[in-house]
Amino acid sequence: MTALPHSYKDPLLTLQDVSMQFGSEVILRDLNVQVLDVIRPGINQGQVVGIYGRSGVGKSVLCRLLAGLAAPSTGTVRVGEAQQPVRAGAVGYVQQRYPLFNHLTLLDNLLLAARRQHDPAEAKARTDAYLSRFGLAAHARKYPAHLSGGQRQRAAIAQQLLCSEHLILLDEPFSGLDVAMIDEVKKLIVEVTTLHELNTVLIVSHDIMTTTALADQLWLLAPERDPATGQLLPGATISPRHQYNLAQRGLAWHPDVEAEPEFTQFVAELKQEIRAL
Ligand SMILES: Nc1ncnc2c1ncn2[C@@H]1O[C@H](COP(=O)(O)OP(=O)(O)OP(=O)(O)O)[C@@H](O)[C@H]1O
Ligand SMILES: [Mg+2]
Repeated sequence: MTALPHSYKDPLLTLQDVSMQFGSEVILRDLNVQVLDVIRPGINQGQVVGIYGRSGVGKSVLCRLLAGLAAPSTGTVRVGEAQQPVRAGAVGYVQQRYPLFNHLTLLDNLLLAARRQHDPAEAKARTDAYLSRFGLAAHARKYPAHLSGGQRQRAAIAQQLLCSEHLILLDEPFSGLDVAMIDEVKKLIVEVTTLHELNTVLIVSHDIMTTTALADQLWLLAPERDPATGQLLPGATISPRHQYNLAQRGLAWHPDVEAEPEFTQFVAELKQEIRAL
């Protein structure tokens, strides 16, 4: 498929020499990756990064570093146009297990999030819009304990969309959702990323098809071998060969990309690469 015209501007997220270890166990080693503001003529085009890796490799640990909830053992995470070191609360983070306040109804959980960014009237309007968009309006007065797993997950995504500025991290956003709801979440991610030039969504997922279709770049977190000895190095990293630019490959921003043979071929290759790790 033909690559759509695009260019790159300022960095919006930078990981510089980021490593993380717990005690003597190295989880992440020397991560050096960057998300640049992608520019498309005539469109507000945000960024979507898909993050893959085998179970237990360190994706959720990476999310906590990106969200400023933990400090890396070495290196820095910088966010936004100003490229300031990340602080907790700057990045919206929908965790693999989605925390809502159990003593508040769904409606109040969302209002609380929306009021961190908007005045009360705007917060109410936005909350109502997300509730209906996510098929949650009928459940607005329920407490989190009385929602289904998928409903809680949609609520958590809506909550972070309502309160974060430009950067949002979704850890496994499609797991436990039925096909129609996956489509809703996909549409919403596209909507979020075309709403503002700087909006950036990072998606950690094992659903490679769905995530690749949404993304303009991919990172594969994996252990590497020492080039000299062939020995596996401790911890996982994102090597240059595991950074895929989908915009250049002509696989980004096509609405029905999943039906294209090039896309199917690329996803098959990627899965093979992950299996072989
Ligand atoms: N606070 C901690 N202390 C010690 N080890 C930890 C801590 N947090 C995570 N780990 C370890 O870090 C490794 C990576 O865990 P992580 O949750 O990031 O995996 P993941 O890639 O998200 O896996 P999955 O796809 O199953 O969600 C695991 O071996 C885990 O036990
Ligand atoms: Mg995880």
